[in-house]
Amino acid sequence: MTADPDRIEVLHGVNLNLLGERDPLHYGTLTLADLEAQIAAWAEEQGLSASFFQTNSESEYVERLHALRGQVAGVILNPGSWTHYAYSLHDALELTGLPAVEVHLSDVQSREPWRRVSVIGDLCLATYSGKGPEGYRLALGRLREELQTERS
Ligand code: DQA
Repeated sequence: MTADPDRIEVLHGVNLNLLGERDPLHYGTLTLADLEAQIAAWAEEQGLSASFFQTNSESEYVERLHALRGQVAGVILNPGSWTHYAYSLHDALELTGLPAVEVHLSDVQSREPWRRVSVIGDLCLATYSGKGPEGYRLALGRLREELQTERS
């Protein structure tokens, strides 16, 4: 049983704390705080409540996923560069059993070849990449759709 059936968590990974200072061509100009305020407003519009987590430590990211089991209805993940090689995230996400959506601000498919691999993609309902902050709005919509289907 989920503690709060309308709560989802957005987990930002490595280097995303420096949004606003990273290459604006790939990542835009919003800071992480700006981005999270925008996501929180979109979540509310969709009848969801969003909580947020960011870390530069892979083990903390894994532990956060463990802690979310049974606590939230779904997760949105942007693990940063861990996406492309950190299999620990794949296994931790699988252990949560939670519906998940992957988001990348930049278009990872059209950058360096190593960014084309995702270790979590096969566990996610959808991946939104290259759409900037809008990707998070789409991810919220996809999760809400999933939660409605689960309840019907
Ligand atoms: C990113 C894409 C990754 O390849 C990169 O390492 C990041 C951010 C994105 O949001 O576009 O740190 O996940």
